[in-house]
Amino acid sequence: MAGLSSFVKSWLIIRNISLGLTVNKRQFIYRFRRKYLRRNIMTTPAFQHGDYEWQDPKSEDEVVNITFVNRDGKKIPVRGKIGDNILYLAHRYEIELEGACEASLACSTCHVYVDDEYIEKLPEPLEEEEDMLDLAVFLRNNSRLGCQIILTKELDGLTLRLPQATRNFYVDGHVPKPH
Ligand code: FES
Repeated sequence: MAGLSSFVKSWLIIRNISLGLTVNKRQFIYRFRRKYLRRNIMTTPAFQHGDYEWQDPKSEDEVVNITFVNRDGKKIPVRGKIGDNILYLAHRYEIELEGACEASLACSTCHVYVDDEYIEKLPEPLEEEEDMLDLAVFLRNNSRLGCQIILTKELDGLTLRLPQATRNFYVDGHVPKPH
């Protein structure tokens, strides 16, 4: 009898250890997943560049009216809003402003001419913007990169002209499609 009882005790101890290990293993996997894997698959809401510019102004106070002048001289009035980026706003209205580097200041294909009366209302260009403008063709005193212009109420009435060409695409005849 004593033998059977010690056998049962030993069996119970082994079973509990094994269960304990199993539980610990599960806990380990769970914690590992939470700590490492879950972190990797959690994402912030996906905002694409230009999403904001596709939203209409929520009130008249937000509206900033601007005009693009295309390469052929055609005027295109656009109802923008405070906070819009000129490059993405142009894409929304199918204006041929390429933006090859997606506003990362690595090209000059978003080159625009800003009305003289508005040029002073814009913040000073960053050094990187000036570097890129140095590479632009048909550079003028009122040249800026469209992707660096963010609309404010003060810019209401702004006119932006597109230069005759930019360095990337008009050279080979490619006409960009809006993104
Ligand atoms: S899109 Fe390349 S610098 Fe503006």
